[in-house]
Parts: sequence; C-alpha cells; structure tokens
Amino acid sequence: MHLTANRRACEIESMDENRTDDRKHSPMEGFGPLTMTPESMRRLANFATDVLIERLGGLNDANAWDGEFRDVLKDRLGSHPPEDGRPAEEVLTQVVREVLPFAARLDHPRFFGFVPSSPTWPGVVADYLAAGFNINSCTWLVSSGTSQLELIVVDWLRDWIGYPDTAGGLLTSGGSAASVEALVAARTAAGHSDRPAIYMSDQAHGALKRAAVIAGVRRENVRVVRSDDRFRIDMEELRRRVVEDRAIGLQPMAVCANAGTASTGAVDPLSEMAAYCAHEGIWLHADAAYGGFSLVTEEGAELLDCIEMSDSVGMDAHKWFFQPYEAGALMVKNAEHLEISFAMGSDVLQDTVWGANHPNFADRGLQLSRAARALKIWMSVHTFGMAAFRSAVRNGLDLALRAAEAIESSPTLESTAPVSLGIVCFRVNPGGRDEEALEEVNRKVLTRVFWDELAFLSSTSLRGVFSLRLCILNHTTTWEDVRRTLDLVERLGEEELAASD
Ligand SMILES: Cc1ncc(COP(=O)(O)O)c(C=O)c1O
Repeated sequence: MHLTANRRACEIESMDENRTDDRKHSPMEGFGPLTMTPESMRRLANFATDVLIERLGGLNDANAWDGEFRDVLKDRLGSHPPEDGRPAEEVLTQVVREVLPFAARLDHPRFFGFVPSSPTWPGVVADYLAAGFNINSCTWLVSSGTSQLELIVVDWLRDWIGYPDTAGGLLTSGGSAASVEALVAARTAAGHSDRPAIYMSDQAHGALKRAAVIAGVRRENVRVVRSDDRFRIDMEELRRRVVEDRAIGLQPMAVCANAGTASTGAVDPLSEMAAYCAHEGIWLHADAAYGGFSLVTEEGAELLDCIEMSDSVGMDAHKWFFQPYEAGALMVKNAEHLEISFAMGSDVLQDTVWGANHPNFADRGLQLSRAARALKIWMSVHTFGMAAFRSAVRNGLDLALRAAEAIESSPTLESTAPVSLGIVCFRVNPGGRDEEALEEVNRKVLTRVFWDELAFLSSTSLRGVFSLRLCILNHTTTWEDVRRTLDLVERLGEEELAASD
C-alpha cells in the first residue's frame, strides 16, 4: 500500500507542474476558493481508487491489525489547521501512510475479533457516490430517489423478518441508534409512564442499557436478568422481576431480547418472550444488530425463529450484510409508532410534506440530515444477487461449526459456549489445571496471538471464565484461515502450558 502511495505521489508531482494550465479549463472557475479542476479531481479520485484496490489485494498478506501511540501520531500529524493548503495528493499520500493504516483491518480474512465487517466494493463505491451527489436522505422532496430505495430495502427487511404489511422502519447509523429509536417508540406505546423499567439479560449489549437511559429510564430501573447455562434469558426471573416492579409502582416499558449476543451469539427464547410480553402488554424489542442478517439463510431463519413476534427489531448491515460503516436498521411491527414518536413538524420544512405515500424518513428517527444508506445495500445486492449474499452469510455459519468440531477433537482446546451464529468461544484447557492457571495461560496465548500477527482474536468473559472468541463473518475467510488460526492457538497454548509447569 505504501508503495502505491509513493509511486502515485511521484506521478502526480510531475503532473502538478501543469496545474496552472489545467485550471484554465475548469468549469468551476470563478466558483470560489474551495473548488478543483476536473483533471485534479479525477487524479485525486483515481489515486484513492488505486490505493483502495491495492489494499484489498494485499489484505491477506498484511497484518490483521496495526496501531500507533497517540504521542507518535500527534507528532506526525500536527494539530493546528494550516492557513494555506498544499497539493491534495500530498495530503492524501500522508493520510494513506500515516493515518489509515493504523487501524484494525476488520475486513482481513483472519480478523476474528469483536464483530468484524467486510464491505463489498459496490457498497464502498455507493458511499462515494452518495457523498459526491451530496445526497441528504431526509425527506422525499430533498431526495426522492434514495427515499424510494430506502422503502425498497425496508420492504426486503420486512420480508426477511417475516413482519406483516403494517411494519416499517428506517436505516440508522447502527445498532446503538436503532436501539434508542426502538425504545423511544416503546416509551410512546407505553404512554410515557413516569416510572418506566426495562428488562434485558446479563448478556445484552451495552448499547441497549445506554438506549434505555436515553429513552428516560433511570439507570437503577434497567433490570439485568440472569441468563441460563446457554446464555439465554431466564424467563422465570424475568417474570418475577416484572411482578415485583409492578408491586412497587414501576411500569415495565420494554423487554429486550437478544437475537444473537455479541459474546456468544446466543439467542433468547424469542417465542416465549413474545407470548409473555403480548400477554403483559410490554413492548418486545429484539436486538439482532449482530445476528439479524443471518435471516437471509434457512439456518439463520431457524435460529431466529419467531423474531417476527417482537414489536421491533434492530439489525446491522455493516456487520453481516457486508456494507461499509454506517449501516444499521430498525424495523417496527406497527410502523405508526415511529412517526408518532419522532415526527415533530417544522415551519421551515413545511414544503417537504408530500403526504403519506411519500414518507420523510427524518420523521421516523432521530436524524434530520441522513446519509443515503439504502444506496449501498441496494447497489451491492443488485450487483451480486441474493444467492451470493446467502452463500456469504452461510460461509460464516459453516466455518464456525467446523471450527467447533476441530476444537472438540483437539486434546488442548475446549469449547466454552455452544457455537451460535458464527461465534466460537473456546480456550486452551487440556485438563488438570485450576481456573486461575487456565486464565493466566489463555491471557498469555491471546497476547502472543496478537504479536504473532497471523490473525486477530479477542476474548470474552463467560460467567467469569476467560474465553477466547472467534467471530467469523468475513465473506473472504476460508477454512484454511480458521484452521491456521486454531493451529496457532493450539501451539502457543502448548508452549504456555509447558512454561507454566
Ligand atoms: C448485539 C449487538 N447489539 C448492539 C450493538 C451496537 O451496534 P452498533 O455498533 O452498530 O451501534 C452491537 C455491536 O457490536 C451488537 O453486537
């Protein structure tokens, strides 16, 4: 990548000698100090495209992670905004060398940490186009084209979830924003109680707790319910806490179900929760930010069976639907709840009201100015087709099952949670060691994997048990990538076990 940046910078420097001539032909001439000539624009964009394509081509041979300390970056990048500019290619070259490489390569085929993402190229280009066309997908008047695409994508999501025609939604920055919007809608549906309480399992993502607090629930009324040995919410405890809370005057406003936890991929008993919530008149929000897009496969649809019984579902296309950040979605079974909660009306926007047939997506959520997120989803699905997307999602599901089998048959490794939705939790444990010793060995193994640079793993804590964790979502990951990573963990584990004897 650095080579490309250097080579292109040299080519561009020689072209820059013609900079003044080039300006003569600018259709932008006379349009102020912040414009470029068509030729300079093209050169800059082509340079960026070359860098990106070369990066993708070299990803498999690059480290899965790179980072730098703040002091080093500060010295390199300066702080004050310069009074005078410099050639755009020079700025781009600096960024390509000194900023962008210092990041987790979340799209590396052996990046298995946290929740990785591997965007498709049409999705990347769509974001570029949307920025270039300067689209603000706020209202129908301001952007009817991408509003129509958003309606189409929302229809796709409705079908994949299995929601009725009354359902609707919008694209969001991600799962965190979708959770806030879902819980605000739940608050509206509950009639804005004075003392709301909300329920979720001890495996729920922090984004849900934050969303509950933003939606007006006091921190102490965010009830964290114990999960069972498969990391699924304990329904008995949920029922008990709701009864207890009502007895002291709290008003249960929503229950959050995990439709794929970030830690283990566990799915709460969606059908039982939905039946319970319907009976009690409590909104059920399914957090499928992580697992939601597995719905496009039969296997995923089976794992998330009955998700359509929930009142709302959040799901992230920047996770398992191969889109660049940011691409989340919120779907609500009765779409009216969104506009009742979010549409405010405004004198200055009075011209944008085109009637119910032409929705303004800004009325459905917390943003007025909004990125055209539907464009990337629509373009990449139209480019590759759903068969390709299904097979890419299935790849992660299959590789995770295969990894679990390899762990089962290893004398050194053991599974620490049932494999679910592409997530494999495991650790080095040949038997005969106490928990403290095992944690020390596994922490050391994780550190050594990190410095070995073949792959990137992260860890989780499963009821206090330190576990290594593979999250396999990348559409370019092969069994060879997974096998090499497991082999490395096994070898390092054996070395650390020997050293600790
Ligand atoms: C299960 C779950 N919920 C919510 C979130 C938050 O989503 P986002 O990072 O898109 O805001 C995540 C992120 O990883 C997640 O895995």
